[in-house]
Amino acid sequence: MPIGENSRPVAAITGASSGFGKIYARRLAAEGCDLLLVARRGALLDEIAADLTAQFGVAVETLVADLSKLDEVERVERRLESLPTLRYLVNNAGFGGNQRFPDVFLDVETAMIQTHCLATMRLTRAALIPMKAQNKKRGAGFIVNVASAAGFLAGDGAADYTATKAFIISFSRSLQCDVGPIGVRVQALCPGFTRTGFHDAETMRFSTIKETVPNFLWLDAERVVDASLKALRRRLLPRVVCIPSLKYKIAVFFGSARAFAPLRVLFSRGRVR
Ligand SMILES: NC(=O)c1ccc[n+]([C@@H]2O[C@H](COP(=O)([O-])OP(=O)(O)OC[C@H]3O[C@@H](n4cnc5c(N)ncnc54)[C@H](OP(=O)(O)O)[C@@H]3O)[C@@H](O)[C@H]2O)c1
Repeated sequence: MPIGENSRPVAAITGASSGFGKIYARRLAAEGCDLLLVARRGALLDEIAADLTAQFGVAVETLVADLSKLDEVERVERRLESLPTLRYLVNNAGFGGNQRFPDVFLDVETAMIQTHCLATMRLTRAALIPMKAQNKKRGAGFIVNVASAAGFLAGDGAADYTATKAFIISFSRSLQCDVGPIGVRVQALCPGFTRTGFHDAETMRFSTIKETVPNFLWLDAERVVDASLKALRRRLLPRVVCIPSLKYKIAVFFGSARAFAPLRVLFSRGRVR
């Protein structure tokens, strides 16, 4: 039966073709959610859908969309609004860049702002329509906005990346104030360097992060997602910002205080040669 047409909760995940998004899809399918998977690479989404349906017996719908384009975001919005059992939205799609101003690729920077900020805002609004309606009956929804520890920091070649991630953190904090009363929990997930497809993307082709960042700073993607989902359901002292791992909690604490500006070196390693 198609998603949204049975009693099973639906989880919508953007950037589900790889990395964190693919892991959220697996975890939420294992919990019995039907899935709406969004990304540009449809063939990868179809493979993941077939695998998860075979393994967990859930229904999976794939939606190919480039979230840097408004008309494609609108298609996803309409689908989200039409899902009466929507329980989770994971705004995860994103990418990095490594050019310094003024020598940036303007189309890449613009697409980053559209994907990280505009799409996150618009898809969140759309998802809240069925979540709010459910509140009257069952009352719960979860929105995970994947930001980054970089959203608290600064570094060269990352002006728009850090700014868009700071937007996501700030947006999520105030959003929680709006939607807490209707039973929706919001999280801004702030991982540090994690081995996913992120550092192999075309927009990161000039980055030296993979070669220069020491091993001990890399996180495991599965653990990041597990920490996110655990924190999301925490009943005692719930928090919007989730920084999975002590070392990045410390980096954010010191790195965001001006007096500790030298820590910014962490985010200054991926220079354009
Ligand atoms: N890995 C890290 O070190 C790290 C650290 C902190 C935060 N993050 C954040 O984590 C999120 C997920 O990244 P990841 O690490 O899992 O990297 P990833 O493996 O490269 O996954 C990124 C996902 O985003 C999708 N995506 C990118 N641009 C898109 C667009 N314009 N429209 C639709 N989908 C798009 C990609 O799918 P398609 O290419 O198929 O469209 C892919 O599924 C990102 O927001 C990233 O900023 C990553």
